[in-house]
Amino acid sequence: MAVTETRIVTNRLREFTEDSWTIDRYLATGGYDMLRQALTMQPVQIQDEQVKASGLRGRGGAGFGTGQKWSFLPKGIYPRYLAVNGDEGEPSTFKDHMLIERDPHQIIEGVVISAFAIEAHIAFIYVRGEFALGIERLEQAVADAYAKGFIGKNILGSGFDLEVVVHRGAGAYIAGDETGLLSSLEGERAMPRIKPPFPAVQGLYAKPTVVNNVETMSTVPHILRMGGEEYAKLGVGRSTGTRIFSVSGHVARPGNYEVELGITFRQLIDELAGGVRGGKQMKFFIPGGASAPWLMPEHLDAPLDMDYVGSELKTMLGSGAIMVFDEDTNPALIAWRLLKFFAHESCGKCTPCREGSMWLEKVLFRISHGLGRPQDLDMMLSFGSTIVPGLNAPFSQTTICAMGPSTMSAVVSLDRFFREEILEMCNAGAARPTIPVTSA
Ligand SMILES: Cc1cc2nc3c(=O)[nH]c(=O)nc-3n(C[C@H](O)[C@H](O)[C@H](O)COP(=O)(O)O)c2cc1C
Repeated sequence: MAVTETRIVTNRLREFTEDSWTIDRYLATGGYDMLRQALTMQPVQIQDEQVKASGLRGRGGAGFGTGQKWSFLPKGIYPRYLAVNGDEGEPSTFKDHMLIERDPHQIIEGVVISAFAIEAHIAFIYVRGEFALGIERLEQAVADAYAKGFIGKNILGSGFDLEVVVHRGAGAYIAGDETGLLSSLEGERAMPRIKPPFPAVQGLYAKPTVVNNVETMSTVPHILRMGGEEYAKLGVGRSTGTRIFSVSGHVARPGNYEVELGITFRQLIDELAGGVRGGKQMKFFIPGGASAPWLMPEHLDAPLDMDYVGSELKTMLGSGAIMVFDEDTNPALIAWRLLKFFAHESCGKCTPCREGSMWLEKVLFRISHGLGRPQDLDMMLSFGSTIVPGLNAPFSQTTICAMGPSTMSAVVSLDRFFREEILEMCNAGAARPTIPVTSA
């Protein structure tokens, strides 16, 4: 049977395309009912019986257990903060942008419930500055939620207070890393911090802080509506529930698709996104945003399962973005374009990432433009192993944040799947005269 989307988080915005972001539509479709319910519960009940029981794992990239992360907050230390990550800088990921623009109240409801559960009284929603319409709607939504008493003092008469601040980022990829985001919120340059201490212990203004992604927050009200245990029945293994996948590249119907975890890449790419456009064959695909090592058509029947993809396929579902490339694609050119991004966005704090991404970009430029040298691929693997020891991208690193290993994902993938093709390109490049020969 053909697979269909399982619309939980995206339900309202798909159905009410004219006004899904307004408070009237949100209230008319059961909005803030779960907040009312949450405020009658004990914070620890929400943490344990709902969020932990649901098996929810962060939708920002690392896939860490949300309830578990909340439980790391040290007992009795206040104030504590909730920081919501709406930076979404990962190339090819465009799901949070959609949620911010089209269902901001759902994020706010998730934020208020989560803040109540972790006993935070200030929440920051950090949004990429380029999301102009999204920020406008989110700010309006926050103002409307204040006006209706869903945010502010004594929310719905519960005695719980929460202030929500929308913060515009200035468009740096590294501001999406959780500690980079905290530095940016504090008014510093967005640069990652060494962990430990982890943000849960010492985060914003050196106080306990939970950082969660926009989609993670948007899922929280639905966990309460369904009940944590019911939610956990969706999905596969430890990858419970649904996720929104941004599918782009050479597919017939690019877009965001919310699916139950556990369906296969083939079902998502072929059945929902319409397969490779123009009747062409697929050459390869990137399963989890620009940072993820690539996969081949032979992996299409693998399940969308965070653990399986990590342990068996040595890559990740990451930020939930799938880029598809057809048979005519030059993989070296794609690798070069990705490295151009990473070299540009490296914050420069860690030498392996700063220098490594720059040199990888230069070498990939010459390979992809027909000027490669026979030793180039092995040379990149050699100096890349100083960024990612053992080249087991993306799971080991010599840098503070995970951007370091991301810089090697494309190179490792070229070596895994396209070694012959790249060596041929390099040999052809080496055979080409460097000084153009003109006929007499
Ligand atoms: C370089 C870099 C960029 C990141 N960008 C984002 C981002 O834009 N949005 C996001 O939610 N997480 C991003 N992350 C992951 C965050 O560090 C963090 O894991 C996440 O916000 C936690 O939320 P979650 O547990 O709900 O997924 C990034 C990580 C790195 C290393």
